Amino acid sequence: MKPQSHHPFQVADLVIPAIPSDERLWVPQTANIWFRPLLFNTSQGYWINLLRVKKTGVLNRHLHPAPVFGLVLRGSWRYLEHDWTAHEGDFVYEPPGEVHTLMVEEGVDEMITLFQVHGTLIYMDETRKPIGYDDVHTKLRADWPGRRIRESIHTMRFTSKFLPRSARRTPNAHGDSSGSGCAPIPVLLGQ
Ligand SMILES: [Fe+2]
Repeated sequence: MKPQSHHPFQVADLVIPAIPSDERLWVPQTANIWFRPLLFNTSQGYWINLLRVKKTGVLNRHLHPAPVFGLVLRGSWRYLEHDWTAHEGDFVYEPPGEVHTLMVEEGVDEMITLFQVHGTLIYMDETRKPIGYDDVHTKLRADWPGRRIRESIHTMRFTSKFLPRSARRTPNAHGDSSGSGCAPIPVLLGQ
């Protein structure tokens, strides 16, 4: 008999292939850049995703008011504002207050890094004036300009697998909540 490992109030555990074989699960962000949603916590304001850059790519300059943790899974990248390069297997900690511009150099065919991002990314222009932001809620939107909406919605449905079981089961017209019943946009993920 297996020892009990759950508490009645805990959320569902999760084990999935982080790097999907289904290309549709990569959400296009900008040219040559995609993210793969893994876990969104809307009660604590953080999300975990993979960032993928193919060929040379630059992620807009942004400020992090809260910490970010990263683990490089493939390739390498650097910040224009720093003199170090993060390589495959490296762990990266970005302290609150950090402003940077992520760049993948020529010669790196593919970069994939797992990021746990707390709070907000505040995008800035060259004068460091704020021009936009992302947080756990904007990341869950399926209607971003420039996004391939259909594929994003597919991803969101897939992402809703990561919700607690109680939030995943939405009753159908017959009041049956036993099916998968995934809502397109998750509304709860708390721990
Ligand atoms: Fe960043």
